[in-house]
Amino acid sequence: MDSDRSIGVGLLGAGVVGSEVGRVLLAPGASDAQGLDLKRVLVRDMSARRSRIPRSLLTDDAEEVLGDSDIAVVVELMGGVEPARSYIAAAMSSGKHVVTANKEVIAKHGDELSRIARANDVGLSYEASVGGGIPVLAVLQDSLGANRIDTIRAIINGTTNYILTSMDETGAAFADALKQAQELGYAEADPTADVEAYDPVFKLAILSRLAWGVSVPPSDVYRSGISDIGAKDLRYARELGFKIKLLAIATSESDGIRCRVHPALVPLNVPMADVNGVLNAVEFNGDLVGPLWLQGRGAGAGPTASAVMGDLLRIARQIRSGNGFASGSDAPGNGAKHGEVLTIDGLEVGYYVRLSAVDRSGVLAKIADVFGASQISIASVIQKDSDDERGLADLVITTHPAVESRMQTAAARLRELDVVSSLDNLIRIEHYDSSTGT
Ligand code: NAP
Ligand code: HSE
Repeated sequence: MDSDRSIGVGLLGAGVVGSEVGRVLLAPGASDAQGLDLKRVLVRDMSARRSRIPRSLLTDDAEEVLGDSDIAVVVELMGGVEPARSYIAAAMSSGKHVVTANKEVIAKHGDELSRIARANDVGLSYEASVGGGIPVLAVLQDSLGANRIDTIRAIINGTTNYILTSMDETGAAFADALKQAQELGYAEADPTADVEAYDPVFKLAILSRLAWGVSVPPSDVYRSGISDIGAKDLRYARELGFKIKLLAIATSESDGIRCRVHPALVPLNVPMADVNGVLNAVEFNGDLVGPLWLQGRGAGAGPTASAVMGDLLRIARQIRSGNGFASGSDAPGNGAKHGEVLTIDGLEVGYYVRLSAVDRSGVLAKIADVFGASQISIASVIQKDSDDERGLADLVITTHPAVESRMQTAAARLRELDVVSSLDNLIRIEHYDSSTGT
């Protein structure tokens, strides 16, 4: 390709992220400076008002992007699996490079799409799919390429972090905090993907695939969202010296890798506890680098467009270099070979248990017996708010590290006790080294 000629770009989608990418590409002088020329923008609804993209560029016919020989790079910003997967595959099969922010399609079909990219010697980049504006995939694939990664621990959903922070700091109701996150453009089209933690599961699957070179189907990642976290839990956690965060954690263990996304109690004095609002943070632990911490805005139009544009400019440079894409921009790295993806049953962590129990003598002994029978050692017990009319009180119990399967057995037995009205929450406590905070 002529190195002076600008490179044609087609956008699939002009919503929160697409319209910001369009604005950046169309800003005065941008085309000359970047050598990129926005040719066409696919949308679903041609009648919707759009202030950032001229009407003349819009189309609702995907073929006008995928079949345009002047378009060298397709940027997919529609979301969801279909038709995104088919459009990405079709674009690459006809020799176009692809940039996407779509974590769901990459987590579910990344292996297949990487194969198509390699077979057609085109680039496939998806930095914006994990951590919004944080260049987390570039660091993992390039800068940390020589490391054996043993742990990834992250907050990688801006919407839920925004909700938990608002509930904790301002006492906002869950529904109001979610509405604000939607208005700010952080949430997925269906916010269930955020609240029930499907979105961070997709992101952790992508990180794990790149860190360990193994396929991690999202269905193999343990998932628990934040819809059961109440104001009471945030308050009690704080009194115990913790915040509640939705963590995504992957660990390399002797017999495989274990991937889990769930709310967790995080000590107030570690950096992860101060990752608030829409911020995301990713902590890698590598054998050479040790603990490494990346933090930045994890959602929203600007940060996501930053990551998309970074990919786009990198692909443009590579096109101009004429060196080809055969090595694949998303080739799994770090060399480690691992077996299967492990379930959560063998996990060993501490637990926070909130239950509503009859407020009279002898009750605590019955509850303690259940923990003892499952070989779980209690670390603390506190009696909190009581409901005098019903004769009930909140009991908050924390445990020392215990095996997950034993804790689940104990939880089932607690629910059956006549003195327990309800087991209201069971939240894992994330262990941090008190000397390093990692
Ligand atoms: P969005 O606001 O819902 O925008 C989606 C866009 O795609 C809209 O312009 C929509 O057209 C178009 N579209 C959807 N389905 C289509 C179809 N079948 N045919 C043609 N056009 C279609 O979504 P977004 O927030 O920009 O997110 C886009 C992608 O970026 C998703 O994969 C998301 O997970 C990812 N992402 C988002 C963020 C964020 O903070 N928002 C951050 C990182 C990654 P209409 O406008 O006509 O409806
Ligand atoms: N809905 C996602 C989030 C967008 O809140 O993190 C960024 O991927």
